[in-house]
Amino acid sequence: MSMNIEDPVTEDIARDFNLANLPADYIANPYRYFETLRRIDPVHRMPDGSYFLTRYDDLVSVYRNPKIWSSDKKVEFKPAMGDSPLYEHHTTSLVFRDPPDHTRLRKLFQAAFTPKAIANLEPRIEKLVDGYLDAAEDKGSLDLVEDFAFMLPVEVVCDMLGAPSSERNSIRDWAQAILGGLEPVMTDETREQGSQAVNNFKDFLRDLIKHRRENPTSGESGEVLSALIEAEEDGEKLTELELLHQCIFLLNAGHETTTNMLANGIHELLTNDEQRGKLHKNPQLVESCIEEVLRFDSPIQLNNRRALEDTELGGVSIPQGSQVHLSIGGGNHDPEQFDRPGQFDIERAGNKHLAFGAGVHICAGNSLARTEGRIAYSKLFFRFPELHLSGPVVRSPRVRFKGFSNLPAMIR
Ligand code: HEM
Repeated sequence: MSMNIEDPVTEDIARDFNLANLPADYIANPYRYFETLRRIDPVHRMPDGSYFLTRYDDLVSVYRNPKIWSSDKKVEFKPAMGDSPLYEHHTTSLVFRDPPDHTRLRKLFQAAFTPKAIANLEPRIEKLVDGYLDAAEDKGSLDLVEDFAFMLPVEVVCDMLGAPSSERNSIRDWAQAILGGLEPVMTDETREQGSQAVNNFKDFLRDLIKHRRENPTSGESGEVLSALIEAEEDGEKLTELELLHQCIFLLNAGHETTTNMLANGIHELLTNDEQRGKLHKNPQLVESCIEEVLRFDSPIQLNNRRALEDTELGGVSIPQGSQVHLSIGGGNHDPEQFDRPGQFDIERAGNKHLAFGAGVHICAGNSLARTEGRIAYSKLFFRFPELHLSGPVVRSPRVRFKGFSNLPAMIR
C-alpha cells in the first residue's frame, strides 16, 4: 500500500499538532501529520514547550550526541509518577540512563546478544514457529496477533530469563501496564496499574532469581538471568534493584516491539498483493522485507531526549532543559533520506532506517528481532500461500508503540 503520504494534513492542522491532544484519525495513519510537519515545521514546538522532530538528520544528530541529549527521565517522570514503583522502574532501566551508568549496564547485556548467542537461539525459534503454524493448520484459521505475532517474542524473552512460559499472559499484561505509563498522557489509573504491575513483576522475578541461585545449572534457558545474577553477586556492577529492573525491561523491550514488527509487516503484505508476490517469487527478499517493515511502519514511533545545555537543531534554538520527541515514523518517511518514502518496497536498498534508534542506546536486541522476523515470515508465507485476512483488523490504540491487537485470518 502507498497510502501513507498521499493525503498530508493541511498546514493549519500541522501547526496545531500536539501529542497531548491527538486527533482520532492519528492512530491509523500518523504519517499524514509527519509529512506536513516535516515540510513546514520540522522542529515543532508544542504547547507544553517540548519539540517534535520529524527530520531524519535531526533525529540522527540527537541520537549521536548523548553529551548534549540526555536519556535520563527523572525530571520528566517525577511530576506524573511521583515516587511510585513505576517511577523507580523507568528511572533504573538502562534505556533511561546516561553514561557512565548506562555504559556499565549495557556491558552486562552484551554476551546475550552476540551473533553466536543469537545463532544458538535459531533452532528454538524455528521450533516455536512450526508449533504455532501446526496449530493453525489444524484449525484452518488463526489470529495472526494472538496466536502468532505475540506468542513468539514473549516465548523467546521468557527463555532468555528462564521464566516459565506459563507466565506469558501475566508478563504481557504487566508489560502493557508498565509501557502504558510512557504514553504522552498519563492518568491516575495508568499510574496505579503501572505501579501494581512493577510490584507484581518484582515479586515474580525475586522468586525466579531465588530459584536460579539455588539451581544454577537448571537447564539451557535463562543464560541472561544467570549472567545478571553473577554481576549482582560481584557487588560493584549491579545492585539488586538494578538487577530486577533490567530483567523487567528486557521482558518488556523484547516482546511488544517484536510483536508489532511481525504484525505490521504481516498486515502490509496481506493487503499488498504486488509486494507479497515478489516475496513469493524470491524468498531471499525476506531480509530486506523485514528492514522495509521496520522502516515503513515502525513498531516504536517515539523516543525522547532532554537538552543538557542550550543548543540548536536545524536553525532552531533549543534552550537547556527542553524535551524533544524523536518521531521515528517521521524520520523513516523523510524524502531527503528515502526515495518514495510512502511506498512499501521490499526490495529497497540502502535502507538505513531508525526503527532501532541509533548511537549508544541503539537497540541491543536488534539482531534477535531481525532473526525472529526472518524465521517467522519465511515459514508463515511459504507454508500458507493462500493466507488471507478474514475479519475486522483491530489497531492498538497506543501512540508510542504502533501495532495491531487482532488480525483474524484463514489459511486457505
Ligand atoms: C522490532 C523489535 C524492536 C524494536 C523496533 C526495538 C526498538 C528499540 C529502540 C528504538 C531502542 C532505543 C531507545 C532509545 O534510544 O531511547 C531500543 C532499545 C533497547 N532494546 Fe529494542 N527493539 C526491538 C526489539 C528488542 C528485543 C527483541 C530486545 C531484547 C530481547 C530488545 C532490547 C532492547 C534493549 C536492552 C534496549 C536498551 C538499549 C540501551 O539503552 O542501551 N529490543 N529498542
